[in-house]
Amino acid sequence: MNIALIGMMGSGKSTIGKLLSEKLNFKFIDTDEEIIKLANCSINKIFEEHGEETFRSMEKVVLSKVLKSDNQVIATGGGIIKSIENRNLLKEITTIYLKADDKTIYERVKNDNSRPLLNTENLQQTIQTILSERQYLYEQSQFTVDTTNKTQNEVINEIIEKIS
Ligand code: S3P
Repeated sequence: MNIALIGMMGSGKSTIGKLLSEKLNFKFIDTDEEIIKLANCSINKIFEEHGEETFRSMEKVVLSKVLKSDNQVIATGGGIIKSIENRNLLKEITTIYLKADDKTIYERVKNDNSRPLLNTENLQQTIQTILSERQYLYEQSQFTVDTTNKTQNEVINEIIEKIS
C-alpha cells in the first residue's frame, strides 16, 4: 500500500507523514526532498533559476519514480495535484487530504522562507488565493482529515482508522 498525503503548504504533510510511516512501519518519502536531491539545489533556487515549470516537470518525474515502490507514506508538495498526470497517478493509490484553514496555514508558514510561492507582499491574501484555486483538487482525494485543532496523534489515528 502507498499512502500519499495531499494538501496546502503548511498543512503538516511532512510532519504527519514521518510519524505515520513510523507507526505503519512504512518507508517515508517527501517528494520535495527527492526533487532537492535530484536537482542538487533548493526549491527556491530551482524556481529562481529555472522557473516553476521546471520544478513541476521534476515533480512529475519524482512522483512516477516513487510510485514504482510499495509500502510508503509519501508527503507530496502542495502543488502536486495541479498536473492531470499526477492526479491520475494518485488515483491509483490511497490519498489523504490534510485539510487546514487559511489562518492555520498562515501561522505555520509565516516564519519560513523556503517556499517560493509564498514569498509575496501579502501572505494572507496569497494563501487564500492558492487555497481557493486548489481546494476542489485537494478534495478529490480519497479521504479528507480536518487537522484544525487536532493533535498530531489525533490526526494520525484518524488516518489509520480511515485506511483500515
Ligand atoms: C508548493 C509546495 C511546496 C513545494 C513548492 C511548491 C506548492 O511543498 O513543493 O514550494 O505549489 O504548493 P510543501 O507543500 O511541502 O510546502
